[in-house]
Amino acid sequence: MTHVVVTGSEGFVGRQLVQRLLADGLGGQPIGKLTLLDIGFAAPPADARVQALAGSIADPGLRARAYRDPVDAVFHLASIPGGAAEKDYELGRRINLDATLGLLEDLRGCGAPAPRFVFASTIAVYGEHLPPRVDEATLPNPGLSYGAHKLAGEYLVADATRKGWVQGCSLRLPGVVARPGDGAGMMSAFMSQLFWKLAAGEPITVPVSADGVAWWISVGACVDNLLHAATVDPVRLNPRRSYQMPVLRFSVGELVEALAARHGADRKALVRYAPDPFVERLFAAYPPLATPEAERLGLRHDGDIETLIRRATA
Ligand SMILES: NC(=O)c1ccc[n+]([C@@H]2O[C@H](COP(=O)([O-])OP(=O)(O)OC[C@H]3O[C@@H](n4cnc5c(N)ncnc54)[C@H](O)[C@@H]3O)[C@@H](O)[C@H]2O)c1
Repeated sequence: MTHVVVTGSEGFVGRQLVQRLLADGLGGQPIGKLTLLDIGFAAPPADARVQALAGSIADPGLRARAYRDPVDAVFHLASIPGGAAEKDYELGRRINLDATLGLLEDLRGCGAPAPRFVFASTIAVYGEHLPPRVDEATLPNPGLSYGAHKLAGEYLVADATRKGWVQGCSLRLPGVVARPGDGAGMMSAFMSQLFWKLAAGEPITVPVSADGVAWWISVGACVDNLLHAATVDPVRLNPRRSYQMPVLRFSVGELVEALAARHGADRKALVRYAPDPFVERLFAAYPPLATPEAERLGLRHDGDIETLIRRATA
């Protein structure tokens, strides 16, 4: 019986991952039990295989309940976002760093083969000062505690793998689209809202210029990559056990053109550009990114902008 644990299962990526696991299984095996961990649940999937555990991953008791039955794979997605972690350092450290270590340590000695452990890291590990071209040899230089703790999490996953507690793999996620809702004050919310507003024919003001360039992946492609990381032959994983997810790189103006081609040329007039230099620097000034090692492993971006739009709003 395949038992999979997902932390942060109520989040944007987590919900899609859970749907895919229940529908398709993992690596050709049907799911026998799916344990979901999150602070709370609006309406967990009505499926007899699902065990929804409400509480904090910082609580060792909650983790022990999640791991009570032997675990085949953990997808660790729960986290405190960058802005919130910056405002409350202790909370960020407890969830993004300490709880990640707890989730790994609690798998010590849980038998062979060690469970697969997929960790959602982030492009925030690179920090603000990106070189003219980013590739898989680019040294991370986090500019926020969130990025520093995620980077530390990558090292902890590699160390736990070396010790044989887990068979780990960290993936650095770029901006994943298209998150539904108003973005809850996230500065990058415009990246997702463009998709939904233009589909609905509603006006939107974006805090970047049309020429602002970002790295993009749809939530569908992101989930494909998480599933692949959990099932690829572990001997093929690099010793760092960490990969940059491949991305499509295009400007906000190019996205608007492609959305207008899909939904109607009149949509272009709905977009007002009001660039804020700070937001532009953080989210719309991304240099070319080369990820040949990740692609050799089988990790993929969406292929083209039309596919990305379709999968982002599926
Ligand atoms: N979405 C993106 O664009 C993006 C980009 C880079 C990295 N990531 C990373 O990918 C992962 C998933 O992203 P997402 O967009 O789904 O995030 P999200 O914020 O939508 O979801 C995170 C989930 O974690 C839960 N959570 C927070 N603290 C918890 C705790 N103490 N115990 C249990 N659950 C807790 C939240 O309730 C939430 O449901 C995160 O780790 C994030 O850092 C996402």
